[in-house]
Amino acid sequence: MKGVVLAGGTGTRLHPLTKIFNKHLLPVGKYPMINYSIQKLRDAGITDILLITNKQSLGWFAEYLGGGEDWGVNITYKIQNEAGGIAQAVSLAEGFIHPNEKFAVILGDNLFQDSIKHIVEQFQLQEQGAKVLLKEVHDPRRYGVPILEGTVITAIEEKPEHPSSTYAVTGIYLFDAAVFEIIKTQKPSKRGELEITDVNNVYAAAGMLKHEFLTGWWIDAGTHESLLHAALFLSKEDEKCL
Ligand code: DAU
Repeated sequence: MKGVVLAGGTGTRLHPLTKIFNKHLLPVGKYPMINYSIQKLRDAGITDILLITNKQSLGWFAEYLGGGEDWGVNITYKIQNEAGGIAQAVSLAEGFIHPNEKFAVILGDNLFQDSIKHIVEQFQLQEQGAKVLLKEVHDPRRYGVPILEGTVITAIEEKPEHPSSTYAVTGIYLFDAAVFEIIKTQKPSKRGELEITDVNNVYAAAGMLKHEFLTGWWIDAGTHESLLHAALFLSKEDEKCL
């Protein structure tokens, strides 16, 4: 299976740190944030990785990660011309992913404890569709929130005012190649982005969205507070992150 890491976006919630610098290269503990997504994919046996970022940051990533040799992976790069949303960034992986291939996507600001190895292996056996990973959180309103009926996700609401569960849909997604056709049918949301939640809702409506739960800690390190928490958690695990 191949992997895609998203490292674009605007990082506005981390201003002024990200006013001139890419969020995913900020230090978290001993390492730049991007190390952790690469490490999670590699540990899951995924060594063919596409990193998607913006034009301004591409040179920094290329200089830091190169072709991925030091990480034991093979990194390819693609530019997202404007922060058109997570789904728009994922659409850029078409071509890198073969028509019958499945792949994993990690949002580069998502830091977490669990290995995703067994989840990736399970998804390889899933005939078609997508899979999301859920984590119980204190304030689900900041995230995509699943509507669960028994063990089935019937829909996901993006940043709902009145969340219907206490779970967040984390930024770790598994897709089949049908996702590219689904994204082509999407329209930008109110915030002007192609939303990954809308894409997942197409899978959910077709009964093809599976899920699993993360058991360890999970952090969306997109704010000053969460970035600090992530650094504290990771300082205990840094030695594993190359
Ligand atoms: O962290 C999990 C959450 O991520 C999910 O629960 C939400 O459903 C999902 O929409 C997303 O929400 P955020 O508001 O946190 O997404 P954000 O705009 O912060 O972008 C997340 C990552 O994706 C970040 O690493 C930057 C990257 N990104 C984002 C956009 C909009 C791109 O590479 N390109 C983009 O155009």
